Amino acid sequence: MEIPLCPSCQLSRQLGGSFLWHMNTAPVSSTGPIFSSKPIEPQSVISSSNQENKMKKSIIAASLLLAGAGAFLTASAQQQEPTPEQLAVSATETRQGVFKLLSYNMGAISGMARGTVEFDAAIAERNANRIAMLAPMIPELFAARDTRAFTVETEALPLIWDSMDEFNQKAVNLVNAANTFAEIARAGDRTATTAAVRAFGGACGNCHETFRVD
Ligand code: HEC
Repeated sequence: MEIPLCPSCQLSRQLGGSFLWHMNTAPVSSTGPIFSSKPIEPQSVISSSNQENKMKKSIIAASLLLAGAGAFLTASAQQQEPTPEQLAVSATETRQGVFKLLSYNMGAISGMARGTVEFDAAIAERNANRIAMLAPMIPELFAARDTRAFTVETEALPLIWDSMDEFNQKAVNLVNAANTFAEIARAGDRTATTAAVRAFGGACGNCHETFRVD
């Protein structure tokens, strides 16, 4: 029969020690916690000299401390470990954050085309460069976590994870469109720049049509 060990002994054994000498005197129970609230009375296992008593007491104290530390570490490790649901929620929020940034940078550019934002070729170019930098995060984040099995607030269609190549290609198209637009804006011509906005924005809509809830 496997004799259950008290937490101190278990820990000592894991650490390579052998503090098993009080085993028979420990209040062993097969159902409840063997070492619940009341630690073993050191007196019950100590019979020899004072010197030895002191040593055994400090060994008990040390192993109790170790057991406590072990339990604490286990508890805090459990607390810090996110559940798969929490990971899915976090992954969804992160990718939506990227889309918010894309949208923020695109907002000024399309505003310039509509005439609601003052034309500034340098800002148009800068924002397009930012979009080219951010867009590769789309495939990265969707590949990192498939959230289909979880209840998350999302407009991402499940189809994405069945058609990763096509989805990723649309992100590459966006990078190319952003680079092309940035080059046009760099030349500084207002008419040419605003005329290029529709094609640039089309790279966003082209993915939404297939992969995002309407
Ligand atoms: C490769 C596909 C793809 C491309 C390219 C793309 N999007 Fe999206 N977009 C999505 C998907 C999928 C979602 C839904 C994300 C979710 O809810 O989990 C989304 C969501 C959004 C959202 C909503 C974010 C939120 O707050 O939840 C905005 C805004 C957005 N996209 C703007 C843009 C803009 C602007 C561009 C172009 C600069 C763009 N997207 C390019 C696929 C794409």
